[in-house]
Amino acid sequence: MQNQFKIPWSKPSIGKEELSSLQNVIQSGWLTQGKITQEFETQLSEYLSSNVITVNNGSSALTCALLAHGLKPGDKVLVPNFTFFATYSIPKMLGADVILVDVDESTLNMNPENVEKIVKTQDVKMVIVVDVAGLPVDIDAFVELSHRYNFVLIEDAAEALGSEYKHQKIGSFDHTAIFSFHAAKQITTVEGGCVSSNNEDIVKKLNQIRDLGRLSSGEYVHNIISSNFRTTDLQSAIGIEQLKKIDDFLKSRSKIATGYKKNLKNFSFQFIPDYVTKHSYMMFFAFAQNQQVRNKYLDSLRTGGVDVRMPWLPLSDQPVNSNLNVIKFPNSKNIYQNSLTLPIYNSMKNKDLQFVLDTFQNFSS
Ligand SMILES: Cc1ncc(COP(=O)(O)O)c(C=O)c1O
Repeated sequence: MQNQFKIPWSKPSIGKEELSSLQNVIQSGWLTQGKITQEFETQLSEYLSSNVITVNNGSSALTCALLAHGLKPGDKVLVPNFTFFATYSIPKMLGADVILVDVDESTLNMNPENVEKIVKTQDVKMVIVVDVAGLPVDIDAFVELSHRYNFVLIEDAAEALGSEYKHQKIGSFDHTAIFSFHAAKQITTVEGGCVSSNNEDIVKKLNQIRDLGRLSSGEYVHNIISSNFRTTDLQSAIGIEQLKKIDDFLKSRSKIATGYKKNLKNFSFQFIPDYVTKHSYMMFFAFAQNQQVRNKYLDSLRTGGVDVRMPWLPLSDQPVNSNLNVIKFPNSKNIYQNSLTLPIYNSMKNKDLQFVLDTFQNFSS
């Protein structure tokens, strides 16, 4: 199907290197998870200075991470009210009692103060923090809270590959983090994801969980109940080539983000605290003064050929959660009402940026 927009919201950058490595895998005769996936995991582990287990998407990565950390039905799990649905639906599907926390309106991330208010009064098993659009949360503060209140910290870094907190890559810390390699992400394997952890026991469990509970593929001996979350060597071959290009990809995204911030005068943007030493800009959020102005730009830009999108509907307002919309989450609501997300992708050129800026200009006057 032809894209109706001149400037898409996102676009994967698949080049001749990926095509040629795909061809090699096809010719090798081994297409499912094998040596190439192992090689991809080695490269990712080096990149993140951690131990990485790949899976078939970011949602599976979160499922495996929660199971590896022993989540049980009825356990209390905190998640931000403003996030992609998977952060919420996965613990919910595993039977957790999920508690929503409002986010900070300037960073779009959960802040430690709001989390502390809940963990100090309730027995919370896990807190899932999310690096929204690739902007890291305040990791030191959350790690400290996790020790003080004895909860498992999981980082949903699905959007944050390549981002850095105090000059250290997200995914290289002691706690478990998950990433997504969906087509809109910084690197893609079409669908794909991984879990990174510095805890050897967790890594061992993850290995087992992703492969129907067995320790060794090719054998039919299963020690725990699980499903199939494996990726394929075809996808890992794409991933290996993508990872070689990540520095250039992140530079392009950063250039586009800078271009938006410099030129869009009537908008404000995600606030970047000092502890964020690299934002990988999986998405780019812009905030209008109010909902009316936002809606005007949303419609006009889309009519003008730019695929601008609405932000996530907060979890408390999702149709599936009609019982929750009595609770007030004012910041999530404001973000939803006033923001939009602009096109940003690895191969986006200056002329594409200029087209978006000109389209904004046409509708400002
Ligand atoms: C914050 C967040 N968590 C989880 C996911 C799930 O990843 P996937 O789409 O690869 O299943 C995404 C994907 O977009 C995400 O943005």
